[in-house]
Amino acid sequence: MKIQEIYKLAINKGIEADFRGKKAIEKILKRKREKYEKLPEEEKRDFDIEALENPYLDSRILNIAKDKEIKKVLVGIDIEPAEILMAKEIGGVDLIISHHPLGKGLAHLSDVMELQCDVLNYYGVPINVAEGLMKERISEVARGMNRYNHQRTVDAAKILEFNLICLHTATDNLSAKFLKEKIEKEDSLMRLEDLINLLREIPEYQEATQIGAGPKIYVGDKERRCGKIAVTEVTGGTEGSPKIYEKMAIAGIGTIIGMHMEEEHKKEAEAANVNVVIAGHISSDSLGINLFLDELAKRGIEIIPCSGLIRVPRVKQ
Ligand SMILES: [Fe+2]
Repeated sequence: MKIQEIYKLAINKGIEADFRGKKAIEKILKRKREKYEKLPEEEKRDFDIEALENPYLDSRILNIAKDKEIKKVLVGIDIEPAEILMAKEIGGVDLIISHHPLGKGLAHLSDVMELQCDVLNYYGVPINVAEGLMKERISEVARGMNRYNHQRTVDAAKILEFNLICLHTATDNLSAKFLKEKIEKEDSLMRLEDLINLLREIPEYQEATQIGAGPKIYVGDKERRCGKIAVTEVTGGTEGSPKIYEKMAIAGIGTIIGMHMEEEHKKEAEAANVNVVIAGHISSDSLGINLFLDELAKRGIEIIPCSGLIRVPRVKQ
């Protein structure tokens, strides 16, 4: 496979697993194209044309040093210059894949957060409420991105001539879908303790538990019943609005599953009596990446996990 094929496969897998469904995404992209066509020429010049094809602007091709057949990939949760140097030491690495966004992928992280409105809507929060609360949070995240040195790792890849891509929401969607399907099979009388045990059946969380980073109850206690479980904080860029929990409770959500959670969000969830189970950040990231990496493994590509990635293959390699 070539870099473009690997990248397109990831985006397509992300679309297949998306809460919004394929048709809704096609509509979003069509709307973007129509808006683009109406832009004056000078604005078109600065427009990120990838937005017309790719609904996940935090998932990008960042550097193509040599467009060759990819046989060996180095994959990590966070790729920094250290990992680029590591690839050089290992030798024969055709492509480096970072999960967390880098370069223009990082600069566009807030763009994917609109997805959260649809996830909330899927679980019963009215779309107007979700959009109203998320609008403020999305602009806050967008401003926050300015502090980063976006191109640091991309520059390292350029200097050392490595192919580099990042796949963020595209694979977080796979993780969210996997969890959603696992949980939907369970009945709503289960208690938080049962939910933790259910998550621990997943090898990535089992391994994370061994190092003390397994699933944890942030709000509620193990005896409490889950009620309606919502996988609202696994995909969609980063944490949403802290004001959303009260609305979730009104929408009938009893427990949410997330990857990580700030104190401010935790306090709001507590006040709204919404239970919170934090599955774990790097382990949840790993789950989604693994589901994608299996597609590469099936095609004979060798995978070297690094930078926190807990590699669990679900296909024969
Ligand atoms: Fe992450």
